Order: sequence, then C-alpha cells, then structure tokens
Amino acid sequence: YKDFHDPEARVYLHYGDLSVSGQLAYLLHDIEPDEIYHLGAQSHVRVSFDMPEYTGDITGLGTLRLLEAIHKTGIKTRFYQASSSEMFGAAPPPQSEATPFQPQSPYAAAKVYAYYIARNYREAYKMFACNGILFNHESPRRGETFVTRKITMALARIKHGLQDKLFLGNIDAKRDWGFAGDYVEAMWLMLQQPKADDFVIATGETHSVKEFLKLAFERAELDWKKYVAIDKRYFRPTEVELLLGDPSKAKKVLKWKPKVGFKQLVHMMVDADMAMVEKEVYGLKGKR
Ligand code: GDD
Repeated sequence: YKDFHDPEARVYLHYGDLSVSGQLAYLLHDIEPDEIYHLGAQSHVRVSFDMPEYTGDITGLGTLRLLEAIHKTGIKTRFYQASSSEMFGAAPPPQSEATPFQPQSPYAAAKVYAYYIARNYREAYKMFACNGILFNHESPRRGETFVTRKITMALARIKHGLQDKLFLGNIDAKRDWGFAGDYVEAMWLMLQQPKADDFVIATGETHSVKEFLKLAFERAELDWKKYVAIDKRYFRPTEVELLLGDPSKAKKVLKWKPKVGFKQLVHMMVDADMAMVEKEVYGLKGKR
C-alpha cells in the first residue's frame, strides 16, 4: 500500500462490506471497474461450522449483493467469482467442471449458492461472469490458520526454539495444492476470454497433509514425528478427505498450466518462514 499522494501509488483502497448492499452499489457507481475479482468471504472451512449463518450471509449472499449491485447500476464490467474445490466435497476424484457438487460444510454450501447465482446472472442478464473453481492455492502469504502456513510457521519457530509442539487435526486428508501466483494468472486469463465460462484450476496431483509435513520438516532437517501432536479440536464435523482436480479445460481453453510443483511450493513456504523467524530472533538478540 502506498499513500495516494505518492505519484507511484497504483493501488487504491475503498471501504465496503459484503453485508451492506447499498454501499456496494455506491462503490461500483464511483469506481466503474473494468474487472471485478470477487474473493471476499468467510473463507475458513472449520470456522464455518462455528459461524454457519455469518458464513452463509457473507460468502453466499454477499456474492448475490455484489452481482445485484452490478446489475442495478448497469455498469459494464467483467466479474470473477472465487468458487472453490470445497464445493466438490465428497464427490469422487478426479473432479472437473462436470462433477456434481457434494458440499460438506456450511462454507462449501455457501460457495455452491454463490456459484449458481453467478451463473444465473450470466444467463439472465448476459453478464460476463466466470466461476474459477480453484483447488487449494498456497504461498508465503497464506493466512496462518490454514494448514500449510500453520505448519511452516510452527516449523520455523520450533527450529529456533520458540515453540515445542504443533497441534493438528486430520493429517490423512489429501489436497491438490498449487501455488497462488500461478492461480491468480488463471483468474486473470478467464476474464480476458471472448466468452464467460467456468473453469477448474488445479495441478492434477494430490498429497496428504502428512506428506506436506514430511517435506517441510525435512527441509529444516527435523523429524516431524517428534513435534506433531493430534488435537481433536482441529477435526471437522464432516471432512473432505480427498481433492484432486482435472484442469484439462483450463489447459485447453486458457492455455494455462501451473509452473510451481508441490516440492518447490513447500520449500518456498518453509524458506520464507525460516527467514522471517530468523529476522525476529536476530531482532530480539539485537535489543539485548
Ligand atoms: N486449517 C487446518 N488446521 N487444517 C487442518 C489442520 C489444522 O490444524 N489439521 C489438519 N487439517 C486438514 C483439514 O482438515 C483439511 O482437510 C486440510 O488440512 C486443509 O485444510 P485448510 O488448509 O484449512 O484448507 P481447506 O482445504 O479446508 O480450505 C482451503 O481451500 C479451499 C479450496 O479447496 C481454504 O482456502 C478455502 O477457503 C478454499 O475454498
């Protein structure tokens, strides 16, 4: 973020709330964006079981409010809906655009609503609205309560003696993990197409949380089994055991393919958190 007085400022912040429809319309009227990337949500699956109504309101109805604001203001814009592989839930892999959804959480159910309402506005009002059905995408910027970052942060802290244990839930769950930077490129590509459509974005590989743990701890020359403990509190009432995407359509139509592989992604995240914690430790020592 740069202050807007700075001649080099390219990012401008406007405030809004997905629960307040009138304000979304004012924002759109003022900004008249060419493209909208709608990623706003209560996006944590476990938390959605604790806050189901809020999740339905923001993740589900929030999308409707934004689409309706576009419709009512009549602005010409292209709309990207952050749909999720969680919508597939219990559906057998590999999951593609043709796989029927079987959502397993209030979050996933809200995302299914948002997916269909985006399609409905596309058909009813000829809106350029795309659903990107993104499988898990990670980077050093990942929120600290999602499993990949939780692991890499804890590991860096353990390595430097700031933490003893890492408590996790279901480490047998499998996910199709990709690099967020690659996936953002796919989102942009969707909005550059001549026709609005829906696309699965995935790597086509699946790995368990355990495999992530092993690779991450190996990178730091530690044995994960000595530090990881299982805590039932991190289990979900209904779990999505296995996600594995089929990105053939995106490869064919968008000419997209992921550049960063699983091992490289794990190493990138471990290295970034190690560097951050090293700085923290070095800073603390400096103060003494
Ligand atoms: N968060 C978390 N914390 N997950 C854990 C833990 C833990 O301590 N222990 C095991 N897991 C397991 C979860 O049960 C799940 O099976 C897997 O690790 C991944 O969990 P998350 O990293 O929280 O991601 P997610 O798959 O539930 O959802 C993410 O990806 C979706 C796309 O498929 C989120 O980013 C969603 O917003 C996104 O839609």
